[in-house]
Amino acid sequence: MGFLLGLFLVICMLPLISASILSGHASFLSFNESFSTLYGDQNIRFNGADVQISLTNSTGSGFKSRLFYGDAFFGASIKLPANNYTAGVVVTFYTTNSDIFNGNHDELDFEFLGHIQGEQWVLQTNFYGNGSVQRSREERYNLWFDPTQDFHTYSIIWNKNWTVFYVDDVPLRQVHRVDAMGGDYPSKPMSLYATIWDGSDWATNGGKYKIDYRYAPFTADYTDFVINGSGCFQQKIQSCMQGITGSVTNFTGLETYKMKQMKDFRRKFMFYSYCDDRRRYPTPLPECSEANA
Ligand SMILES: *[C@@H]1O[C@H](CO)[C@@H](O)[C@H](O)[C@H]1NC(C)=O
Ligand SMILES: *[C@@H]1O[C@H](CO)[C@@H](O)[C@H](O)[C@H]1NC(C)=O
Ligand SMILES: *[C@@H]1O[C@H](CO)[C@@H](O)[C@H](O)[C@H]1NC(C)=O
Ligand SMILES: *[C@@H]1O[C@H](CO)[C@@H](O)[C@H](O)[C@H]1NC(C)=O
Ligand SMILES: *[C@@H]1O[C@H](CO)[C@@H](O)[C@H](O)[C@H]1NC(C)=O
Ligand SMILES: *[C@@H]1O[C@H](CO)[C@@H](O)[C@H](O)[C@H]1NC(C)=O
Ligand SMILES: *[C@@H]1O[C@H](CO)[C@@H](O)[C@H](O)[C@H]1NC(C)=O
Repeated sequence: MGFLLGLFLVICMLPLISASILSGHASFLSFNESFSTLYGDQNIRFNGADVQISLTNSTGSGFKSRLFYGDAFFGASIKLPANNYTAGVVVTFYTTNSDIFNGNHDELDFEFLGHIQGEQWVLQTNFYGNGSVQRSREERYNLWFDPTQDFHTYSIIWNKNWTVFYVDDVPLRQVHRVDAMGGDYPSKPMSLYATIWDGSDWATNGGKYKIDYRYAPFTADYTDFVINGSGCFQQKIQSCMQGITGSVTNFTGLETYKMKQMKDFRRKFMFYSYCDDRRRYPTPLPECSEANA
């Protein structure tokens, strides 16, 4: 019972989800109770709510939540590897159900793409719905701080019609499901994942710069995990299809002042959006008119 209760972590009112809530002394999820390792166990260290995952020349590593969630707010504080050279290193914080929905999975991604010496990490967001891998929806951003120096919170609120990606309390991206997206909007319960791996073939300047293991190990730190949503085991996945009525389910998009904050961020720090990429999408995907409004 204590195990389940721990997962129903309650943070306060949704519009206020912010660094202050996430860094306050709420009861954060214990790593061992809430997550299980995926691979590279020898490169995973955990202690209470803190966990470090490393990439070495023998393996990357990663973990996932034990439960699936319908509508939910997912968050963690993350500090990226501070190595001088991290080209090819990919650090992720994402939700997916690809292990149980093969060919029609859903996914919401934060992906940190390594850098060459003297440059900074790039953050990418992306999502898939119902296996829409032919229509990836990347956006890429610089950050207004050095993500290797301190912990910052990265979070996603996701329900049937709305998704928002935040860094600290700043919204980076809002997706409003429109009917024309068909199944492309993530709709089935997902687990929370975090991984570190060798993405030499694409991560840094499209794969121009590869990983250099002379700089290894590369270690990412995660702490203060929050999942606000009703969890379910795979066998009971139907039971969390609907989400629970609460502020996550009720969320209907950012308030005006938050929209302004998001637009300011995007104007200053976003340097790529699939919505503006006419080579890939001569006709922008259906949700783009609103994203660019
Ligand atoms: C993690 O949990 C498992 C049972 O789920 C337990 O056997 C193990 O001792 C725990 N490890 C730590 C370090 O708490
Ligand atoms: C991997 O790293 C270890 C420790 O730095 C080193 O001893 C070993 O030679 C490396 N292996 C390869 C294949 O590079
Ligand atoms: C990183 O680069 C700086 C400046 O080039 C150097 O002083 C420092 O020793 C390097 N650190 C590591 C871990 O390589
Ligand atoms: C999502 O939006 C549609 C309109 O496109 C609406 O009919 C539906 O009730 C909304 N769903 C929820 C759970 O709010
Ligand atoms: C999702 O994918 C499955 C399997 O490909 C398909 O049967 C179903 O119609 C799709 N659903 C939507 C809403 O597109
Ligand atoms: C969510 O909406 C439902 C239906 O409108 C309402 O009864 C409920 O109080 C709301 N929950 C929260 C936490 O706002
Ligand atoms: C978390 O979920 C509970 C249960 O639905 C709800 O009462 C609470 O308001 C939610 N908090 C946030 C921040 O979404």
